[in-house]
Amino acid sequence: MKVDVLLGLQWGDEGKGKIVDVLAPQYDIVTRFQGGPNAGHTIEFDNKKFILHTIPSGIFNSSTINVVGNGVIIDPYIFNKEIDNLVNNNIKVDDNLLISKKAHLILPTHRLLDAVYEQAKGKAKIGSTLKGIGPAYTDKTARLGLRIGNIEQTDFEKRYRELKEKHLLIVKSYNFNYQDFKIEGMALEEYEEKWFAGINKMKQIHKIDSEYFINQNLKNNKTILAEGAQGTMLDVDFGTYPFVTSSNTVAAGVCIGLGIAPSKIGKVFGIFKAYCTRVGSGPFPTELENEIGQKLRDEGNEYGSTTGRPRRCGWLDLAALKYSVMLNGITHLCMTKADVLNTFPKIEAGVQYNFKGSSIEYVPFEASYEKLDPVYQETEGWQTDISKVTSPDNVPKQLFDYIKFVEKEIGVPIAMVSVGPDREQIINL
Ligand code: GDP
Ligand code: IMO
Ligand code: MG
Repeated sequence: MKVDVLLGLQWGDEGKGKIVDVLAPQYDIVTRFQGGPNAGHTIEFDNKKFILHTIPSGIFNSSTINVVGNGVIIDPYIFNKEIDNLVNNNIKVDDNLLISKKAHLILPTHRLLDAVYEQAKGKAKIGSTLKGIGPAYTDKTARLGLRIGNIEQTDFEKRYRELKEKHLLIVKSYNFNYQDFKIEGMALEEYEEKWFAGINKMKQIHKIDSEYFINQNLKNNKTILAEGAQGTMLDVDFGTYPFVTSSNTVAAGVCIGLGIAPSKIGKVFGIFKAYCTRVGSGPFPTELENEIGQKLRDEGNEYGSTTGRPRRCGWLDLAALKYSVMLNGITHLCMTKADVLNTFPKIEAGVQYNFKGSSIEYVPFEASYEKLDPVYQETEGWQTDISKVTSPDNVPKQLFDYIKFVEKEIGVPIAMVSVGPDREQIINL
């Protein structure tokens, strides 16, 4: 067997959590391979809504094993809060949740450093979720990090204190007054206490050599789905750097983040919204800072799942989508939030950019620094409620035309269209 991959093709929040939950019954194992609690994956069913940050979205399917891979970074406080919320809602979390011993820890001072660096950047700030992602991945590559497997070792607290001291020296050098700084509403020391309580609780979680677990299960013909976080345009190498996250969000990240060979990658599901959103700073060529953008925000309830910030909204960007499809080797596309366009008489999509006097269909290096001016193509809206449509037979003609238009531009078939947040609101084409 091979590992199928599901990831976001835009700037995150494409609806990955929902689609993983829809597909989960087809998979024995669902596994996260990168990112951390900067992610917020929403799943809705039976009038209930859950937002997951670290735990894979297969957790709601009782027969699926969920693995937090080595490429993920974990904040024990957030992780345990997530488990408590699931358990309080009668969702099974025991031997169906496994964590890689090689996954790195996010320390309270990583979160402090995230805030220090953002403040120092001033107007050029990334708009980080302030979950400590950048600093924790920095320590991983600097070979300073602490890992899940270290929790059980006798020198864990000593190593923690040493790393914390290093962090506080950096904080001092920035003249940042951390005594007044709050993490999740708490002073550093109070958060640290809760964090250690989380560490203690994590002693009961099943910790594994996940690379062996995944490869052995592949050998045993088990089906595995790797769930991406963030989106391709936030990839540390290929996104709109420096306005990106600190991990490789593209399909190649699965090999590193799980310990599987490139030859073991199967289908690659690419999730994209029928329009575009971005939360945080950075370039967004098709952004609409007008009443249409506001209408997308209102209809799509475009407020961050992790931070509650309003998401920036705009039309679909097909040049960027093509770039993402290329980078990931997408085999199946899934268009989400099509229902958000229900009341739009006309729908536009960027097909090219005007850049330095010529029209281009790719995302150049300069995209991070200079304004790309999109050229739009207009299609008719369907102007009818599609949120209850589940059969391709009932898809309005204009929506079909939009699907065909996107497929023609991208060159990959759209396998699924999502028409609402609930797991039942899906059209398999
Ligand atoms: P993720 O990070 O990619 O998992 O996406 P988020 O959960 O951050 O954001 C997607 C939001 O859109 C969530 O509030 C979902 O409940 C919601 N959602 C997902 N699919 C659809 C859809 O097809 N239509 C509508 N209206 N909402 C959707
Ligand atoms: P999911 O998995 C949307 C954005 C932040 C910021 C930038 C860097 O829910 O799609 P970081 O905290 O990683 O240092 O922030 O990346 N960002 C996301 N935007 N969805 C996410 O995850 C995101 N994770 C990070 O807003 O612009
Ligand atoms: Mg999200």
